[in-house]
Amino acid sequence: MNIETIVSLSKRRGFVFPASDIYGGLGSSWDYGSLGVELANNIKRSWWRWLVHERDDIEGLDSSIIQNRMVWRYSGHETTFSDPLVDCRTCKGRFREDKLKDVTCPKDAKSCAGSGKECDLTEAKQFNLMFKTTVGATSAEDDYLATAYLRPETAQGIFINFKNVLDTSRRKLPFGIAQIGKAFRNEVTPGNFIFRTREFEQMEMEYFCRAEDAPRIHQEFIDGFQTWFASLGINPENLKLYEQNEKELAHYAARTVDILYRFFPEREDEDAQFDELMGIANRKDFDLKAHSKKPEDAEGKRINSDSTEDLSYFDPTTNERFYPYVIEPAVGVNRTLLAVLMDAYTEKTNDKGEVRVILKLKPELAPIKVAVLPLAKNKPEIVAMAKQLKKDLLPTMRTVYDDTGGIGKLYARQDEIGTPFCVTVDHESLEDNAVTVRDRDTWEQERVKIEDLKEYLQKRLG
Ligand code: GAP
Repeated sequence: MNIETIVSLSKRRGFVFPASDIYGGLGSSWDYGSLGVELANNIKRSWWRWLVHERDDIEGLDSSIIQNRMVWRYSGHETTFSDPLVDCRTCKGRFREDKLKDVTCPKDAKSCAGSGKECDLTEAKQFNLMFKTTVGATSAEDDYLATAYLRPETAQGIFINFKNVLDTSRRKLPFGIAQIGKAFRNEVTPGNFIFRTREFEQMEMEYFCRAEDAPRIHQEFIDGFQTWFASLGINPENLKLYEQNEKELAHYAARTVDILYRFFPEREDEDAQFDELMGIANRKDFDLKAHSKKPEDAEGKRINSDSTEDLSYFDPTTNERFYPYVIEPAVGVNRTLLAVLMDAYTEKTNDKGEVRVILKLKPELAPIKVAVLPLAKNKPEIVAMAKQLKKDLLPTMRTVYDDTGGIGKLYARQDEIGTPFCVTVDHESLEDNAVTVRDRDTWEQERVKIEDLKEYLQKRLG
């Protein structure tokens, strides 16, 4: 099993489709189909419930994708959010200089790019990854503020709203602000299905605290996220921590730990099998200071001459005013979805020697929880009973009715999309008011009275 197995399952069953496919596609853009959107929503719901609802020290936010250009000027993205690009005069390929060892030459992998043999590389040029646009129909070409960017991360929307949230929620430190939303990066080398795309979705949380508490809180989130991934059904053996070294650390970060997932199990080198699923950074007090009007540089000059607000925090118990430290766990929805699919994918051989795919998704994440199937679709009483059952279960759990094939085919289809339970209505059901419940993972069947069915399924779905 590798990413290609998931690409083909995704297309076949309606999780993810190549975007703009009927026009030849658009490099590394993907559309989420009826099952993919449900799975993504369930992942986001799990993250939101865990952080925002259950902890009760984190507020939610949904900020604009397009913000004033100044946000990206003072966050540092305008000057530093770039990749070093080199062109190869031999193969005409364009590559990230820092990722040369991972790329293959479009002409001949053995002769240039990365191998160093006959590559003829230009000097590196910095390429800014933000997508640029203009705001307003009448804006002049040279109007500085008419230029806007699609946000390359959701985090900055949180920092610039720090005071709004603080004032309206009356929170005291420590507390966090969480946001889920689209981010855009004009990646030089997107690829590997939904692993690296130019449009993607992030779940980011900025947790504001006192400097002295930051290292402990940072470690708590590193541990906490590993537990959360396990709760999504990801095997801890497929996760690995990576401590960023001095060279890799962003200039404002005190410590950053990435959680890696085994996205490339087919690679021989064990280390190369893993790549970033999320990052958890201690960003110190950089962001709130950068967006504040008061801080000054060594020469006494304001570091931000455009901000109209001071994003410092006043602690009434100690009478201190300061810029809080920030711990930032940032995770990609799409990479989490890919990891969840890869970990849930299994194959099982049935009595007839046929190989069946079973997607062992945690019930919480499964797009469909229950499929109600009539054993005979030409028998109106059975069909009516099955449709009624679907109606009764639907308000409590996502239930579908399916009669588009023989029972074996219907079971196989539900196994492949991760539906934990199939409920079959047969001739006997009309006599004994009971149905057969089939377990996706064990294929075991149990007879359950219709009056007990909802409670039985609820209990087993957890
Ligand atoms: N605010 C911090 C931040 O944005 P990041 O490591 O650049 O940090 C966080 O991004 C997460 O977003 C990554 O760990 C990854 O899961 C996801 N991500 C980043 N770039 C991506 C891309 N081009 N395609 C898909 N997911 C991406």
